[in-house]
Amino acid sequence: MLPIAKLKNKEQFLEYTNSIGIDLPLNDKNSESPNPFLTPIQTRSGLTIGNRFCIHPMEGWDGMPDGNPTEHTIRRWKNFGLSGAKLIWGGEAVAVCHQGRANPNQLILNNSTKKGIEQLRLSLIEAHLNAGHQADGLVIGLQLTHSGRFSKPDSKSQLQPVIAYHHSYLDDKFHVSPDTPIITDTELDDLVQTYATAARIAQKIGFDFVDIKHCHGYLLHELLSAYNRPGRYGGSFENRTRFLREVVSAIRTEAPGLDIGVRLSMFDLVAFVPDLQTGIGIPVMRDGYPRPFGASSHNSLSIDLDEPKLFLSLCSQLDIQLINLTAGSPYYNPHIQRPAMFPPSDGYRPPEDPLVGVSRQISAAAELKACFPELIMVGSAYTYLQEWLPAVARAVITSGKIDIIGIGRMVLSYPNFPSDVMHDVPINKKQICRTFSDCTTAPRCGLISGCYPLDHYYKTLQEAKELINQKLLMQKDKNNK
Ligand SMILES: Cc1cc2nc3c(=O)[nH]c(=O)nc-3n(C[C@H](O)[C@H](O)[C@H](O)COP(=O)(O)O)c2cc1C
Repeated sequence: MLPIAKLKNKEQFLEYTNSIGIDLPLNDKNSESPNPFLTPIQTRSGLTIGNRFCIHPMEGWDGMPDGNPTEHTIRRWKNFGLSGAKLIWGGEAVAVCHQGRANPNQLILNNSTKKGIEQLRLSLIEAHLNAGHQADGLVIGLQLTHSGRFSKPDSKSQLQPVIAYHHSYLDDKFHVSPDTPIITDTELDDLVQTYATAARIAQKIGFDFVDIKHCHGYLLHELLSAYNRPGRYGGSFENRTRFLREVVSAIRTEAPGLDIGVRLSMFDLVAFVPDLQTGIGIPVMRDGYPRPFGASSHNSLSIDLDEPKLFLSLCSQLDIQLINLTAGSPYYNPHIQRPAMFPPSDGYRPPEDPLVGVSRQISAAAELKACFPELIMVGSAYTYLQEWLPAVARAVITSGKIDIIGIGRMVLSYPNFPSDVMHDVPINKKQICRTFSDCTTAPRCGLISGCYPLDHYYKTLQEAKELINQKLLMQKDKNNK
């Protein structure tokens, strides 16, 4: 596995990607005219997205216990604003209710936090303008979430799972006892209204759209694979997507005119665990492992986009045009979701070159884009490309494989990255995210998330020392095993 920094020129990049069996498109024509990144996109509803970069939602585990933002949260949103990207996909996952928080510091949207969350949007716009970007074409959404199986509303270490169904492997892994009740149909009906109320507040405080998050193993994503759940929300495709239909209808009543987007794990695969000898990720092969959404019914290690296509067709029918495509889950197959050279503390050593993970998402997204040209699609998992991100992104955009490039971890270490790429400013290599995964390891240790290796702000916090100590302890633990 070669670190990307070793691939010094186009020939080396192509030779290496060829040698690992992937075909990543490349277009290194800087200064192309017209600049493909600066071509705006118009939604049917009348929004103009001023360029082809999107900032993905990324939470920092740093809100107040009551769900309001802190100075860390405000700083992150300001960085999203100064990035120059014109589509802000949600800022971060914001819980629609306390019980659905992924951690006790996740933001919540309700009447007592709406001012704080409005302030995030305003701070982002101010930073965008202060950095010299125009206000035109800036589209800001809010990601609404219920963390389902991964809810931890009251304690950093204690899951309080809300499950759509009992999962023969994930229940074991995350200590869900067999007598934990599944969320009932009536509770799901009520939750529809909770989402709609949150959407109404989001509209009131100026957000252009809300994302009804269906990804990463959280509740609405889990519903999509609820093949064996009885009742109105399980079994058939129609039942498994009932929540989406109901919530869209409720939002259209509560917040008429508000745009709706969906972030979708376009495929999921089985969980991976570290091999006991090598620490390298190996797939969990168990009889009766429930079929992940977007995986083949015969082989849960292989992608089958038939149902995701039906899902996107449904989005199209529901007049949801904004789609953000991601994959897998950070909790049980992080190399699928956010390819990295260095695993997070609860992960495993990469079972494949992370470029394979990048390519897997780019190819699947291209297949979906080809089927639904009318949808505006954002792609994910580009950060691992590092120096090669601009050339691959340019090729993906110009060939129509995706409409907008979503940027996650890179913007934590290098907030100006999109702006530099769009304006042909030479990339500052010292700020490139090298995927050390501290932004994931820190929250796994109960600390706030951020770029500890490269962002001076986090480097100097007390939390940075704590993170080092906790990583040392974990390493000792591993060595003793
Ligand atoms: C620290 C951190 C927090 C994240 N939080 C969210 C989130 O709140 N909602 C979400 O949909 N994805 C979240 N993600 C996933 C990212 O949006 C993105 O899909 C992922 O990092 C892959 O993109 P990248 O390769 O550009 O980093 C998070 C990722 C990281 C690293």
